[in-house]
Amino acid sequence: MSRSRKTEDSASVAVEELSEAQARRELARLARLIARHDRLYHGEDRPEISDADYDALRRRHEAIEKRFPGLAREDSPVRAVGAPPAPGFRKVRHAVPMLSLQNAMTFEEVREWLEGVRQFLRELKDPQTPIDLACEPKIDGVSCSLRYEEGRLVQAATRGDGQEGEEVTANALGIADIPQRLSGTGWPSVLEVRGEVYMTDEDFLRLNELQERSGGKIFANPRNAAAGSLRQLDPTVTAGRPLRFAAHGWGEVSTPLAATQSEAMERLRGFGFRLCEPRARVRMTGAAAEGLRAYYERLEAERSRLGFTIDGIVLKIERLEWQSRLGLVSRSPRWAVAWKFPPERGVTVVEEIRCQVGRTGKITPVALLRPIGIGGVLVRRATLHNADEIARKDIRVGDAVVVQRAGDVIPQVVAVLPERRPAGSGPYSFPERCPACGSRLVRQAGEADTYCPAGLFCPAQAVERLRHFASRGAFDIEGLGEKNIELFYAQGLIRTPPDIFTLEERDGTALPPLRTWEGWGEKSAQNLFAAIRRAREIPLERFIYALGIRQVGEATARLLARRYRRFERFRESLAAALLPDAEERAELLALDGIGPSVAGDLLAFFAAEHNREVLDALTRPRSGGKEPLVKVLPAAEGAAADSPLAGKTVVFTGTLRSMSRSEAKARAEALGANVAGSVSRQTDFVIVGPGAGAKEKKARELGLRVLSEEEWLQLCGLR
Ligand code: IVH
Repeated sequence: MSRSRKTEDSASVAVEELSEAQARRELARLARLIARHDRLYHGEDRPEISDADYDALRRRHEAIEKRFPGLAREDSPVRAVGAPPAPGFRKVRHAVPMLSLQNAMTFEEVREWLEGVRQFLRELKDPQTPIDLACEPKIDGVSCSLRYEEGRLVQAATRGDGQEGEEVTANALGIADIPQRLSGTGWPSVLEVRGEVYMTDEDFLRLNELQERSGGKIFANPRNAAAGSLRQLDPTVTAGRPLRFAAHGWGEVSTPLAATQSEAMERLRGFGFRLCEPRARVRMTGAAAEGLRAYYERLEAERSRLGFTIDGIVLKIERLEWQSRLGLVSRSPRWAVAWKFPPERGVTVVEEIRCQVGRTGKITPVALLRPIGIGGVLVRRATLHNADEIARKDIRVGDAVVVQRAGDVIPQVVAVLPERRPAGSGPYSFPERCPACGSRLVRQAGEADTYCPAGLFCPAQAVERLRHFASRGAFDIEGLGEKNIELFYAQGLIRTPPDIFTLEERDGTALPPLRTWEGWGEKSAQNLFAAIRRAREIPLERFIYALGIRQVGEATARLLARRYRRFERFRESLAAALLPDAEERAELLALDGIGPSVAGDLLAFFAAEHNREVLDALTRPRSGGKEPLVKVLPAAEGAAADSPLAGKTVVFTGTLRSMSRSEAKARAEALGANVAGSVSRQTDFVIVGPGAGAKEKKARELGLRVLSEEEWLQLCGLR
């Protein structure tokens, strides 16, 4: 009794009048309350108090801590890492990554894909050997992974970045096509079903009508409507939306489903799933492709009558054993391809041509268009690529142009309609100076692109680099998108990447605290700081990608991370490689997938002092013995950690009998090895087949381990 009275007492006392004992009790009470309201708001989406009342609690808490710094608690809601909890959805790691598809725009490209398959799997080399393909429509929706354990739905997740998605189980339960329990018998005890959540055209139109009447959000197309409806914090909203689900594959399975794609899909149908229809099975032998062409043409003709949006067909190798041997390239399986329908087109007018500055300084001219609906999407801009492209097509302001849009690709201007050109227009003249910083633009002889040479002195480049640094695939900081980066840059609060991580401790020093800025509040400021704190630990591959080095995209970053494993090693080796004769330079160039041009860009990055300063500021302990701003985690070793090839460098020379060179390389990489093109002291294994020559000789001279094909197969666990 007396305890609670005391608490009551301290709750009503002004901060300036609190005794130390009262302040201690009051801090404990406020910490509990704030934690509770955080949970109700973020975790359960049912806040009990207004934002203003919540802000008042936090402000009182802060004021007391300020008056009695010695009383600051471990569980102080302002300090605790990760508090408040992540706004929105819980993240889940996919047991098996969710992949994307390689695209083919023409039949010729499909043929090349199949040729690649024949090259990869040696036994298919003869074009007369038949390859069966499972064909189905490519539905334009959002992918979703449904995990069933003992036949019961236990988790649903969106694709996210392919490795990690958002948990949407409660929402999935409200979709009629998604069974809570599997039907039939014989399902694997663990089964992840993957497919597309989508909306029919009719349901989409009806939803938009309803939204319009109720003043809700109007969706641009069925896909956005499906995505927006699935990602609802309130699952009852999802349940009220007309969503469908069609299965197109699977992730983790405790026992194999079948021997072929079609049989596996039929089993999923038996478990209660709708499939992507209409489906077909075609056989590819020699140059014959009638079956495939007929299916493609049929779907293209039926496209507008299906009642839902499809943007092509998907072809998958039937035999699952071949699928597993074919494996992946970057984030797409080698065993599947999407053959897209021709992009949709429309005619509109170029109202203005504007030049954008990218993060590497590249200038991209963009046409601002009179808005036009193409394939259900309102298009307002189209890329014009570069100066030559504008000159070649003679695109001018005021011109009527044909614009095409294919899926998520940036719309393009295909052609100008000269007969509709207004009188008195002149050719477009490309700017000579950077639109952001005024520097004179440069264009190297023989290159199509024009660059602003000012690097980080150009505000547009600085902002773009910061945006890239915080983006998905890199540090992935929610709340640090383009708008906020621009804001913090303009206010001088964030100029370089390390500034991001000191934003919170500097808050309220040079400028008023963020929570008092227009459009911000206690909660949004805390959410941003929490997102930044969560981003402090980052795997090496994402860190390398975040640096925004020219030509170093996600695939190259992964390759480098696998090679160097730890950040310190990556940094030291690249710094050492700056010397022309260094072994480290040879080592870098020997990496399969790093050509001289990429290596040049990597070295140029390390040669610039300000880049090295940024790296140090991020990763070295700070003065006063403080932890580094960022902790770079070693590259994930994953399943390959205990393989005898993990972290080793291998070179193949001569021909192997049992597998193609590409399959051998893919196998080595899957087991954690780096495949190099030339032999050096850094090489661990050289695998020789008939016809090996100089490389084998060099390997023997250097005393390296030389393996026969048989020994190689043993090492891979294939013998
Ligand atoms: S198979 C192995 N089949 O397209 C890759 N995907 O562009 C898994 N999609 O993320 C995809 N219809 O969400 C496959 N019949 C279909 C599909 C389909 C739509 C989506 C899928 C994927 C995206 C790739």
